[in-house]
Amino acid sequence: MNIEGFRKAFWDHFKGKERNEPDFSHWDPIVSAEIDLCPQVEGMISIKKQQLLNLAFRFLDETEAYFEVGTYQGKSLLSAMLHNPRRPVFACDNFSQFDVNSFRITRANLDRYGLLDRVVFFDADFLAVYDAAHLPVPLGLYFYDGAHDDASQYAGIKLVEPFLADEALVLVDDWRFAPDSQSHAKAATLRAIGESAHDWKLLYELPARFNGDRAMWWNGVGVLSFRRNSAAIQ
Ligand SMILES: C[S@@+](CC[C@H](N)C(=O)[O-])C[C@H]1O[C@@H](n2cnc3c(N)ncnc32)[C@H](O)[C@@H]1O
Repeated sequence: MNIEGFRKAFWDHFKGKERNEPDFSHWDPIVSAEIDLCPQVEGMISIKKQQLLNLAFRFLDETEAYFEVGTYQGKSLLSAMLHNPRRPVFACDNFSQFDVNSFRITRANLDRYGLLDRVVFFDADFLAVYDAAHLPVPLGLYFYDGAHDDASQYAGIKLVEPFLADEALVLVDDWRFAPDSQSHAKAATLRAIGESAHDWKLLYELPARFNGDRAMWWNGVGVLSFRRNSAAIQ
């Protein structure tokens, strides 16, 4: 993953206050339907977050893959992939949260947008997939949006390290801790990267005013870069 290329493109796409202030037009259903990459799919994602995923995916090298944990009905996965060059894609959800949530729905949504055949999907607990048999291609882009309790989030960062490309971009959803979400994403991620022998940087903390902020970054996103320190003992 070309981190510097991504950073320049991010700065160019989200200028000045677009990064930190609400875009109230995204609350207009007609406006947002026009710019939504997959308007027929339900999701827990704002327009800005869709655009972030789509932009980041574009910077994957040909030799790298995208891995998403916590797809729900497929909206974030589709947002990353649509109109982008073909790259290996791995995705995981065990459909344990929310009433209307199943692999059948996600599969139908991927199929509707012609991307079903391009995704290797693990209908499984995410803890079971961090091995070379499941993730055989270096991950240039990793989006973690599974459970955000402390233990899960910590594991979601610790366990992925050996499978990241030497230079990778990591997006952690629900970065904002507040009573309306109880997400430990930020604290657990920072703890995990603080213990790492590799070079992690927190590039951006993209804010939200509350959980479900369609005008901003839904419930906040942490954007991190990873560089492997080849001298480090794994
Ligand atoms: C907030 S939703 C993801 C929303 C989705 N990324 C989107 O933008 O629409 C979190 C997802 O994580 C999944 N999840 C929770 N715990 C999990 C686990 N242990 N293994 C795999 N998936 C899990 C849930 O089933 C749920 O679909």
